[in-house]
Amino acid sequence: MKKIAVFASGSGSNFQAIIDVVQSGELKADISLLVCDKPGAFAVDRANAARIPSFAFSAKDYPSKDAYEAEILAELKKRGVEFIVLAGYMRLIGPTLLREFQGRIVNIHPSLLPAFPGKDAIGQALEAKATWSGVTIHFVDEGMDTGPIIVQERVRLEEDETRESLQNKIHAVEHKLYPAILQVLLTQGGIVNGKKASTY
Ligand code: GAR
Repeated sequence: MKKIAVFASGSGSNFQAIIDVVQSGELKADISLLVCDKPGAFAVDRANAARIPSFAFSAKDYPSKDAYEAEILAELKKRGVEFIVLAGYMRLIGPTLLREFQGRIVNIHPSLLPAFPGKDAIGQALEAKATWSGVTIHFVDEGMDTGPIIVQERVRLEEDETRESLQNKIHAVEHKLYPAILQVLLTQGGIVNGKKASTY
């Protein structure tokens, strides 16, 4: 079974969706660690409830990204983590982690990239009065939401769409799509859309 780490910054509903499929046996993976950059985040409570070890840190306690990522890397190595799943982790991954995990880090983003990258993709879609937005799962590179795309799913915005209603629709898609794609990446030889994931 592949050992994975989930990185989150907030409520961790995607983290929970992954915990649920692991616990039900639908996803054969071992969630070895939660990494969280907000020690008070609800994601940490979810890890505790599921008896998953967590490493929570505050970036401001470190002199640099390299410094806190070196500590994260040590935690990952200690636990033999092979794959990183970003689930609402609101920080760019730096060279320290990328060097070791390139091609083995995935992210989920609440828009159809390359539209609406970065922070508050949902607010950006509403502001732009877009008819369509959605969800993208992609491999992580050094850019902001720029890595090779694995899968996208559209979500339609209605005339009276609110932040809350769009958030709910996007979460509903994410909670199904992320576990399904992780299943493929982690247990089915990494073939996505007929293409070996490692070649993306
Ligand atoms: C998710 O919608 C995820 O796509 C988004 O943060 C939310 C986290 O929700 N990620 C980004 O915006 C990354 N740029 P959650 O904490 O309930 O899983």
